[in-house]
Amino acid sequence: MSHNTFGHLFRMTTFGESHGSTIGCVVDGCPPRIPLTEADVQVWMDKRRPGQSRFTTQRKEPDTVRIVSGVVVDEATRVKVTTGAPIALLVDNVDVRSKDYGEIENQYRPGHADFTYDAKYGVRDHRGGGRSSARETAMRVAAGAIARKIVGDVRIRGALVQLGPHRIDRSRWDDAQIDENAFFCPDPGIVPAWEAYLDGVRKAGSSCGAVIEVWADGVPPGWGSPVYGKLDAELASALMGINAVKAVEIGDGMAVAAMSGEDNADEMRHGENGAPTFLSNHAGGILGGISTGQRVVARFAVKPTSSILTPRRSVDRFGAEVDVRTKGRHDPCVGIRAVPVGEAMMAIVLADAFLRHRAQVGTGAPWPFPAREPARG
Ligand SMILES: Cc1cc2nc3c(=O)[nH]c(=O)nc-3n(C[C@H](O)[C@H](O)[C@H](O)COP(=O)(O)O)c2cc1C
Repeated sequence: MSHNTFGHLFRMTTFGESHGSTIGCVVDGCPPRIPLTEADVQVWMDKRRPGQSRFTTQRKEPDTVRIVSGVVVDEATRVKVTTGAPIALLVDNVDVRSKDYGEIENQYRPGHADFTYDAKYGVRDHRGGGRSSARETAMRVAAGAIARKIVGDVRIRGALVQLGPHRIDRSRWDDAQIDENAFFCPDPGIVPAWEAYLDGVRKAGSSCGAVIEVWADGVPPGWGSPVYGKLDAELASALMGINAVKAVEIGDGMAVAAMSGEDNADEMRHGENGAPTFLSNHAGGILGGISTGQRVVARFAVKPTSSILTPRRSVDRFGAEVDVRTKGRHDPCVGIRAVPVGEAMMAIVLADAFLRHRAQVGTGAPWPFPAREPARG
C-alpha cells in the first residue's frame, strides 16, 4: 500500500523526485466547466519558486507548469475549462546537480529521511533527497491553484509570523505588506531585523526554523464532516504532512491550555438575517469539526533546515561512522517557501470539504433556518 494521494472528493496524487526529469500531479474530482489555464496555476507556482532572493535556495527552477489533460476550450466562450476528467500537471526539473549528492549515496544525513527510507524500502533515490525532497511541494501548490478555483470567493492567505526566535509585533500587522518583502512578513517593522538575522545564519552556514500562519476568509458555516472528517483534523493532517513541519495549531492552539473557560469560549450574539455572530475567534473558525463562518486560522512550525555546512556525525548504510558534509544548495530557513505550500494545503482541504458538504447537504445558505417540515408517517 502506498500513500501519494491526498483528499476524498478532491483528490491529488503527486509523483516525481527532486532530480528526476519531471515532477507532476493528477487532480481527480475537479468539477467540470471551471475556467482553468496554465497562467492560473503559474501565478501560485511563482510564489514558491526557489532562487527569488538571497534568503532561499539558489537552485534555479522556473517551475513552468504544463496542463496535459482534463481541460478543453469551451466552444461557446473560447475559454479553457475543466471537463471533469483527471487534470494532469507537469513541471520539468531543469537545474539538478546530482554530483553534489554523490558522497551521501550511502550516508544518512542527520535530520533527513535517508535512514528511514532505507529502513523501509531498502532502496532510495538519494539525489537531492529523491522523493522526500520538498521539490514535491511544488505540485501541492499546483493542485492548490485548482482548489482555489473550486472554493471561489474563499480567500486563502499565509504569512511568516516568526523567524528563528524573532516574532512579529502583531499590532503592526498589515496584509498589504505580505507580498512586499522576501519573507511574506506582515510586519514591515521587523523585516530589517529579520534580514540581518538570516544573513548571519546564512553566512555562518547554519539554519533556523519558523512559524507560518495560514487563514481563510469567506468560508461559510457548515464545512467539515464529523466525526472522522473534521475540518480541523484534516487541516492538521494536511499541514503536518508538509516537509519539516513539527507542530500545527488551530485557532489559539497550545495557548488554550493556559486560558480560562470564560476567556476561551467564543460568545455569540444575533447578527444580520438572524445569523449568529461571534464576539471572538479563539476556536480558529471551527467547532465540532465544522466551520463556524468565521476566519479559519491555523499555524505551523517548521524545523531548522537540516542541510547545513557544519559537518554532522552520522553512520552509513554499511555500519561505519562518518561525518556528513552538506553540499548542494539549500534554504537557510524553509519557512519562507513553506508559506505558499501551507496556503495550497489549506485550499485543498477546503475544496474537498466544500465538495463533500455540497454532496451531503447542498449549498443552500443555512440562515435563516427554514420552518421545519412535519415528520412524515
Ligand atoms: C519549501 C521547503 C523547502 C525545503 N528545502 C530544504 C532544503 O533546502 N534543505 C533541507 O535540508 N531541507 C529542506 N526542506 C525540509 C526537508 O525536505 C525535510 O526536512 C526532510 O525531507 C525530512 O523530512 P521531515 O523534516 O518532514 O521529517 C524543505 C522543506 C520545505 C517545506
